[in-house]
Amino acid sequence: MASSILPAVFILVFLSGATAQLSKNFYSKSCPGVFDAVKPVLQSAISKEKRIGASLIRLFFHDCFVQGCDGSILLDDTGNFIGEKTARPNNNSVRGFSVIDRIKSRVEKVCPGVVSCADILAIAARDSTVILGGPSWRVKLGRRDSRTANITAANSDLPPGSANLTTLVRSFRSKGLSTKDMVALSGSHTLGQARCVTFRARIYNQTNIDPSFARTRQSRCPRASNSGNNNLAPLDVQTPNVFDNNYFKNLIDQKGLLNSDQVLFNGGSTDSLVRKYVRNPKAFDSDFAKAMIKMGDIALLTGSQGEIRKNCRRVN
Ligand code: HEM
Ligand SMILES: *[C@@H]1O[C@H](CO)[C@@H](O)[C@H](O)[C@H]1NC(C)=O
Ligand SMILES: *[C@@H]1O[C@H](CO)[C@@H](O)[C@H](O)[C@H]1NC(C)=O
Ligand SMILES: *[C@@H]1O[C@H](CO)[C@@H](O)[C@H](O)[C@H]1NC(C)=O
Ligand SMILES: *[C@@H]1O[C@H](CO)[C@@H](O)[C@H](O)[C@H]1NC(C)=O
Repeated sequence: MASSILPAVFILVFLSGATAQLSKNFYSKSCPGVFDAVKPVLQSAISKEKRIGASLIRLFFHDCFVQGCDGSILLDDTGNFIGEKTARPNNNSVRGFSVIDRIKSRVEKVCPGVVSCADILAIAARDSTVILGGPSWRVKLGRRDSRTANITAANSDLPPGSANLTTLVRSFRSKGLSTKDMVALSGSHTLGQARCVTFRARIYNQTNIDPSFARTRQSRCPRASNSGNNNLAPLDVQTPNVFDNNYFKNLIDQKGLLNSDQVLFNGGSTDSLVRKYVRNPKAFDSDFAKAMIKMGDIALLTGSQGEIRKNCRRVN
């Protein structure tokens, strides 16, 4: 009898360690004030600059797609450490790090050494979405912070704005996300800005683009590849600071800014979903929230893995 119980206990302990999961009330005892510490920092930052909300939502995506939602994107380069910040999709592009720092120091005052930077990113992405008019969801928590980053993975696992539908579907599939998740999450391009260098080829060379929209974008994005690369244009031509479904309406009008936007409505398998999100904004909101929760589950460090960083920019 006893000889059969002992291995069973080992197997249980092993399995629960291997499948440690996030929970919505992870900090209810250890840091009940975490949400109240995070939100005012975001409200203030977003009231000063609406775009920063978009930038924080994107930061969560770029964290989760590179070795999981582990705060790896937040690590600064040092003399003997190269992080992810200068990877091609991130360099001169991702932003919001100082807001994360401000949130972290507020949270450390309330409950020192308890809340991970990875969880702060997840909460900040949700709160930014809500503040800008989008759906809410209960954020699952309990992520731990990495002690590593991977610039190679950042270069290979984050799809470029030039990607076609096949590449996008494959990229999200490799992270356990469906085509529907991919289309819903792309809807966050209802917010924020892109640099000329990411959409130049589309506005000069493509035919699945509204001509007058293309001309408008060309006026601040010169054809020559050595000038204006960092000039910005809104991803949603109609309401770049409001989380709504205009992104999908734009696609039907051939006014998607990036190639990766327009391929979602280009005679392929995702056209019907784009039409649905135009007709039914509630379905978009609900699918977006579900997909954000799913994205927040990618390749986590939990339990005693990793650490709770004191400063999001460096390992302890
Ligand atoms: C489907 C594949 C995706 C591709 C190819 C893609 C590509 C891009 C590119 C090229 C930019 C402009 C960057 C720059 O010029 O500096 C951008 C911006 C942005 N992306 Fe994506 N993205 C994708 C999915 C997502 C997802 C899943 C999210 C979040 C859930 C997201 C959120 C954003 C936001 C909010 C911005 C604007 C950021 C700002 O203004 O600071 N994107 N994306
Ligand atoms: C990142 O951008 C900076 C500033 O434009 C540039 O000097 C640097 O070479 C870029 N780094 C990489 C790795 O591309
Ligand atoms: C970094 O990512 C690359 C590409 O995904 C992978 O091949 C490599 O093993 C990773 N390096 C480390 C140290 O995890
Ligand atoms: C999509 O892009 C990938 C990578 O650039 C390329 O290899 C592939 O041929 C493209 N597929 C289609 C259908 O255009
Ligand atoms: C447009 O396509 C042509 C032919 O492929 C190429 O030489 C040119 O560089 C492209 N222009 C832009 C702005 O991407």
